[in-house]
Amino acid sequence: MERRSIGIVMNGVTGRMGYRQHLLRSILGIRERGGLRLADGTVLWPEPVLVGRSEAKLRELAERHGLTEWTTDLAEALARPGTEIYFDAQVTSARVDAIRAAVAAGKHVYTEKPTAEGLADALALARLAEEAGVKHGVVQDKLFLPGLLKLKRLVDGGFFGRILSVRGEFGYWVFEGDWQEAQRPSWNYRDEDGGGIILDMFCHWRYVLEGIVAPLRSVQVLGATHIPERFDEDGKPYQATADDAAYGIFELDGGIVAQINSSWTTRVFRDELVEFQVDGTEGSAVAGLRRCRVQHRSMTPKPVWNPDLPATEDFRSQWQEVPDNADFDNGFKTQWEMFLRHVAEDAPFPWDFYAGARGVQLAELALRAWREGRRLEVPELSR
Ligand SMILES: NC(=O)c1ccc[n+]([C@@H]2O[C@H](COP(=O)([O-])OP(=O)(O)OC[C@H]3O[C@@H](n4cnc5c(N)ncnc54)[C@H](O)[C@@H]3O)[C@@H](O)[C@H]2O)c1
Repeated sequence: MERRSIGIVMNGVTGRMGYRQHLLRSILGIRERGGLRLADGTVLWPEPVLVGRSEAKLRELAERHGLTEWTTDLAEALARPGTEIYFDAQVTSARVDAIRAAVAAGKHVYTEKPTAEGLADALALARLAEEAGVKHGVVQDKLFLPGLLKLKRLVDGGFFGRILSVRGEFGYWVFEGDWQEAQRPSWNYRDEDGGGIILDMFCHWRYVLEGIVAPLRSVQVLGATHIPERFDEDGKPYQATADDAAYGIFELDGGIVAQINSSWTTRVFRDELVEFQVDGTEGSAVAGLRRCRVQHRSMTPKPVWNPDLPATEDFRSQWQEVPDNADFDNGFKTQWEMFLRHVAEDAPFPWDFYAGARGVQLAELALRAWREGRRLEVPELSR
């Protein structure tokens, strides 16, 4: 069996996403399974070159996983023979310059979202990559969550009849960082460092709503910085200048209304950290990261409002679990495999930098809608 190595410059692998989901679960996951078998029988073998700012962290990380290639010099990594792909999971604000350098070096590029902090930069990157003739892709991991795959299956199978509305609830309490360490990095709470929950999450909501339900028509949002002071990684207080919660309403094709709350300042009374309820004329579903439950119209109870009595029905128990009917792998890994096939054998990969720009477009519109207190149309993006 022929084996073909493919060098991947991985920048930001000391970070939360770069390490756990991309290096550990995806690239090393693929190696643990013996590489990625291509259509012609060749086995593609990813060879990561770790890039970051701290020599000590990179060395430790490489040693921990038996890897030998790492550097703090991005230009040097991009110049190494055999490197064909650049991957970026750095802080968002460092992304555009690094991707520009990678495209200039002729690399195919795969990146975390958002592709840029603003639409102009996101579109410029897409055009740059297209003109350079390199392949480009953006992480859209939520589409690969088992719960959302099952939801998509229901939509495709016509379960809902006419979809009326979507209600999404995303969030959990992120500690302020004083008496308990924060579980997210401090830059997330500083606008000047590319933080904010709208920029972080609305990229996801764009492809989730459009990939599963229907194209977006308009957006209105009320954002908030509920916690104005937090404590950073060194325990020092700082002003939280970015939004930590956003309450959004979206209009979709067909008169569908979606409401999504995104919050780092709420406590979870749900089964999963994100849940979407979709209501349709024929039935409803509640999908989370892994689970998806349904209620068909024929199984819908007829509650009567009576505040004088305790609840007479156990509403939660009246829903049915949608079966897996498939093996669900880690979504980040699945998407990596698709991007690798896209590079190595020209397999289709729909989530290019233009898809990334659509996410950034929604985030930018949402921030404007909030600031101006208006509902804004979501215009078509010209390539
Ligand atoms: N797809 C998803 O579900 C998802 C989830 C979380 C974050 N993300 C995205 O992944 C990216 C990284 O987020 P994270 O939560 O892993 O962040 P993190 O703070 O844990 O990691 C950031 C990485 O960037 C590097 N870096 C480069 N320049 C830096 C600078 N000037 N300041 C600080 N760090 C710098 C750090 O060394 C580190 O490796 C972001 O763009 C974020 O939007 C995606």
